[in-house]
Amino acid sequence: MTRVSDFRSDTVTRPTAEMYEAMARAELGDDVLGDDPTVNRLEALAADMLGKEAGLFVTSGTQGNQIGIALHCKRGDELICEFGAHTYNNESGAMVVIAGAQPRPVKGKAGVMDPAEVESLIRPTNIHNPRTALITVENTHNGAGGTIVPLENVRALGEVARRHKLKFHLDGARLWNAHVATGISLKDWCRDFDTVSVCLSKGLCSPAGSILVGSRADIERGRYLRKQLGGGMRQAGILAACGLVSLTKMVSRLAEDHRNARTLAQGLAKLPGVTVDLATVQTNIVFFALPNREKELPQLLARLSDKGVLALALGGRVRMVTHHDVSHEDVALALDAWKSVIG
Ligand SMILES: Cc1ncc(COP(=O)(O)O)c(C=O)c1O
Repeated sequence: MTRVSDFRSDTVTRPTAEMYEAMARAELGDDVLGDDPTVNRLEALAADMLGKEAGLFVTSGTQGNQIGIALHCKRGDELICEFGAHTYNNESGAMVVIAGAQPRPVKGKAGVMDPAEVESLIRPTNIHNPRTALITVENTHNGAGGTIVPLENVRALGEVARRHKLKFHLDGARLWNAHVATGISLKDWCRDFDTVSVCLSKGLCSPAGSILVGSRADIERGRYLRKQLGGGMRQAGILAACGLVSLTKMVSRLAEDHRNARTLAQGLAKLPGVTVDLATVQTNIVFFALPNREKELPQLLARLSDKGVLALALGGRVRMVTHHDVSHEDVALALDAWKSVIG
């Protein structure tokens, strides 16, 4: 079988050997009844790492975000989010269906919203208006290219939320990457937020699962919402065992993905006809354009795939993501493949 270097997403990683071992050894119970010791350990560890009272193991990042949103928004409420946010664009309209909330998107710069603009969009109390209930942030910001929303911006948005008695939720699917890239502690990143959803199945290699953390009261209600959504899993310790490996062994390794993304981006920037904004390559995601060849992208990606390199076309650009299962050699292979495909 020819080697395939899969740069489509950091969700394509397979469990590590240590994860397979952890699954085989995992102590199990019935998590819906609250007695799976491995899930309980994972939830407690995540809450501790992120500086919150309690954690809830959920099936996916989407489920973590949507439970967070439903905790803070009643039907007809409004939430303010960034225009390119995953919760707004890529969760199948779930906030409208599950919480019954409507989004008020703000166009940010590289995923970063202007706190003054956010504040200006908070609705005055009036019989005609929806109630603004929540501000959400995504960090790192996937659609903007894995960019980091700076801590001072998070602090300023948190101030706005508190001043107006709004809730504050973080889609931290890749918060680990922001932590590793900046050296800022996870607790500092999470301090201002009421709830934070983090993913185990992206750069951290677990096969599935995310964790929502927050106050004990929010997480207890979240447990009820998870059950309503069909997210109550029984011997979920099988998956939580991988999650424990993710949290204890896989976080600092992300620095390698960041180095690989930078090498890839710098190599791509040297190819004729390729434009890459290197300033946005801050973690493990590289977006680039082939101006005037947008219509050809499907064919170019098919030819790239014939050479054993997979990438995604998104919004007229190409996205490549580095992760545990692509090495420095895969990056070199990918650059060679692009060179010959672009011709
Ligand atoms: C920023 C962000 N949030 C949430 C999600 C949703 O995660 P899941 O695919 O596990 O539902 C993703 C998935 O890629 C993401 O990139």
